[in-house]
Amino acid sequence: MTGTRDFEGMNALVTGGASGIGAAVATMLLERGARVAVLDRETAGAPEGALAVKADVTDDAAVRAAVDGAAAELGSLHTLVSNAGIGSIGSVEDNDDDEWARVLDINVVGMVRTARHALPHLRRAAAERPGAVSITQTCSIAATAGLPQRALYSASKGAVLSLTLAMAADHVREGIRVNCVNPGTADTPWIGRLLGQAGDPAAERAALNARQPLGRLVSADEVAAAILYLASPAAASVTGTALAVDGGMQGLRLRPADS
Ligand SMILES: NC(=O)c1ccc[n+]([C@@H]2O[C@H](COP(=O)([O-])OP(=O)(O)OC[C@H]3O[C@@H](n4cnc5c(N)ncnc54)[C@H](O)[C@@H]3O)[C@@H](O)[C@H]2O)c1
Repeated sequence: MTGTRDFEGMNALVTGGASGIGAAVATMLLERGARVAVLDRETAGAPEGALAVKADVTDDAAVRAAVDGAAAELGSLHTLVSNAGIGSIGSVEDNDDDEWARVLDINVVGMVRTARHALPHLRRAAAERPGAVSITQTCSIAATAGLPQRALYSASKGAVLSLTLAMAADHVREGIRVNCVNPGTADTPWIGRLLGQAGDPAAERAALNARQPLGRLVSADEVAAAILYLASPAAASVTGTALAVDGGMQGLRLRPADS
């Protein structure tokens, strides 16, 4: 789709848009003609050409101000990409209640807050551009497959998957489509940090590569391309969908390579 300008005349807000998947989404939206605002708690990595708004998705008043400010600056809002999120490692025995509250507050309620404040703007845009208005949320393979040592993270992404379906039902008749993407392990700064904590980073990377049938990590651009499809007018009939971008991790059952 490189070279297409299918987001011309559309205004987008990307949370967590200053790093990894979100930065790739913001960059691709700009390339395809959108005007883009990035909402992030650290905006230094926001792509050039995007309006960077500093806010933490755990702060309702800050999210409201950021969303309203971005919509005012851009003129309207057609596309929300709700992507800000954090990881968490461990079984149910490893994280205390404070950590559960902290991660769910960012990964789940953060998306609720962002959508809550974006919806009035999206409704206005939907009246003008049927089919073009959408919310796309970054979920995870962790929502649909049991991964070891990811109890809290998986619970947060399972909630995002169900939230996506409920939101899609609530807003379909308002002309607002709601979908999510389920990336497999994606090569972003996040994974760099994860590998940094591993005893043997090279062995850990090899294990993560091997877990995906394609034999490698997903790239941030590959996830971004899926998000842009879901947000684009080409997906006007797509709502309540989870699109896996996971190198085959969810759907395939391969025999070992040498059999
Ligand atoms: N990298 C992976 O393997 C992978 C796989 C599946 C899903 N995901 C999901 O993709 C999304 C993006 O992850 P990434 O790999 O690009 O990570 P990343 O760490 O590179 O980027 C995440 C961004 O979100 C921002 N952010 C975090 N907490 C925030 C908060 N409270 N308020 C505002 N901004 C906040 C960070 O500042 C950062 O810019 C996350 O929702 C993550 O769960 C990642």
